[in-house]
Parts: sequence; C-alpha cells; structure tokens
Amino acid sequence: MKILGIETSCDETAAAVVENGTRILSNVVVSQIDIFAAYGGVIPEVAARSHLEAIQPVIDKALKDAGVTWDDIDAIAVTNAPGLLGSLLIGTLAARTLAILHDKPLYAVHHLKSHVYANWLIPGENTATPTFPLLALVISGGHTQILYMPGHNQFEIIGTTHDDAIGECFDKVAKILGLPYPGGPAIANVALNGDPEKYRLPHPKVENLDFSFSGLKTAVLRTVQKELNLPISHPSHDLKNHLSEQQVADFAASFQKTAIDILIEKLQAALIQHPEVQSIVLAGGVSANEALREEAKVAFGGFCPAKNLSGDNGAMVAAAAYYEIESGVKPADPYQLNIYPRISIEN
Ligand code: KG4
Ligand code: ZN
Repeated sequence: MKILGIETSCDETAAAVVENGTRILSNVVVSQIDIFAAYGGVIPEVAARSHLEAIQPVIDKALKDAGVTWDDIDAIAVTNAPGLLGSLLIGTLAARTLAILHDKPLYAVHHLKSHVYANWLIPGENTATPTFPLLALVISGGHTQILYMPGHNQFEIIGTTHDDAIGECFDKVAKILGLPYPGGPAIANVALNGDPEKYRLPHPKVENLDFSFSGLKTAVLRTVQKELNLPISHPSHDLKNHLSEQQVADFAASFQKTAIDILIEKLQAALIQHPEVQSIVLAGGVSANEALREEAKVAFGGFCPAKNLSGDNGAMVAAAAYYEIESGVKPADPYQLNIYPRISIEN
C-alpha cells in the first residue's frame, strides 16, 4: 500500500510517498528556516503563506521522485492537528481537495503520532523496528511528553510538561546566547567546543513523570547575568553582546547536558513504573540531538529516527496513517475534515 503523506503543521512544507508504513519512496521537505532565522522565530502568517506557495510543487515532486502517478497512490494522509492554525489549514485543504479530485481515502493524523512513527521508517538508523509495549519520548518545539504505547495506534500520556516544551527551551536559551533560530541545532553545534561541567544548572523539582523547562531557561538567564556581573534587571537580549565565544560554548554545553540529564532521568523513572516495556523510542525535532541520541543509546539501547526524519516530514505522516489503517481507523470525510491546533494525542 502506497500512501502520500502531507505535513504543514509548522514551518516545513513536506510530502512523501511511503510503502507499507516503512519503505520511503520519496521524501520532499521544503524548510522555511531561512526566512525565520531572519526574524528569530516563526511568524504564523508568513508560514501559512509560504506553505500555500510551496505545497503543490512539493506534492508534485514527491510523486515524481517516487516514480508514481496518482493511480499508484492508495491513500492520502495529512497532519490536521496540532500545530499553527494557518499552517495546518493549507496542508489539510490541499489533502482534502486532492482526495476528492483523485477519489482517494483521506486519513487525518495527529502530529505527535507521526513523530513516533518516524521510528518505523526505512532507510533509517534502525535495523529492527520497535516492539510493544513501548515508551515514546516525544520532544519537539511544541511538546514534551512520555507516551506509553501498549500496541500500534494506542497512546497514553504518562508525563508531560507543565510549561515550556524542551525544543522551545533550546530556542529561548539560544536567543539569550545570541545563537540563531532554530536554537536546537545551533546549541548542539557550539556545545561541541564547550565544557558541560562549567556551569551548574538546577534540575526542576517536578512530581512524577512530568517536566518543567521554564525554570531551566530562567536559570540560564540568571547564571549568565551572574557570570557577567550584571544585575538581574539587565535585559536578556543584550547579554549576548557581553559573552565571549568560549562562554557561549560553555553555557550551551552546560545547558544541553542538563536538559539531556533531565530527559534521561524521567525516562528511567518511567521504566521503573513500566518494567514490562520492550522498547524506548525518541521522537520529534529534538531527537536529532547527537548528544542525547548517544546518551539514550547507552542508557536504554533506545530507538531514534534517522536524523533527517527527526524533524517535520511527510514520510512519518504516511507511516502513522498506515498503522492507523492497520488498526482499523476509518478514513475522514474529505468534505468535512477539520483542523485542531491544540488537541491531545489521547483524543
Ligand atoms: O518536531 P519539530 O521539527 O517541530 C515541532 O513539531 O515542533 O521540532 C522543532 C524543535 C525546535 O525547537 C528545534 O530547536 C529542535 O526541534 N531541534 C533540536 C535539534 N534539532 C532541532 N534541538 C536540539 N538539538 C538538535 N540537534
Ligand atoms: Zn514536529
């Protein structure tokens, strides 16, 4: 079964053709990162307009790269939740229109579900596929959750963030340090030259398997101010002008290590609560982080999506839809399918 997956929930316009939920026949991702690097973050209106310009050529290229025509496509899958309203709307309307035009079943996929299913894609880094029951650590720009999956397409949130998402925290800390958007890759890059033990940053005290990252961001801010002998009233946007390259690298490395330690600790706690778990999978943009991937491999032998499949893409949408279909999920009505900018994976 060949599924066309379409993804426009944030700032990537993406489409892919995937066979039987695992084999990638094509994977086209047009990123708007260059536009938003200039602004220091995503501007939703601009993102939606860029999706509108890119969506048709991206879908055409996905079919062409896969060497298929519409006749070969068995179903269309699209991210309809959660994400930026205007962005979700472009992909979802495109998918609805194409489903009607070409008379294909249409599947609506939750964005976090797709990130998890990036772990089933080949070619990826994994030689085997994850086995159930499993724990999925979803770490993206908008979410930080630990999911318990007893089987395909079954999700229970057992831990979530009380405030910022981890990717958001990377992005905000990068801003303080004067590093470009998106902050995650920028921090990972300069951290290579930094000392992760240089600055001690606190682990937030959060009950059970939940997270909190806004305190960590503030801790970085205060530690930078202290290091520079500046008062806490000193504006955060000016601190970068006072930091040396080495200080930036040391802060990046120390922050990254703390963030990773927090994630690993929570996963370890989750494993104690669920000793029956067979696999641990990482998912979402932050799972591209090399230091985290190493730690997770050492600690759990965990699964990670291939690096180019960690961020937003259409292949993971198609993979998720395949396992939805396998689980008996019915297609959506292409005349009715709505978008849900904020909705839980448990719905
Ligand atoms: O999953 P994603 O592409 O989009 C959302 O669904 O949010 O995740 C984007 C997030 C951004 O916050 C970005 O800074 C972060 O993933 N990210 C990273 C790395 N690459 C991307 N964070 C840490 N290390 C990385 N190498
Ligand atoms: Zn994402």
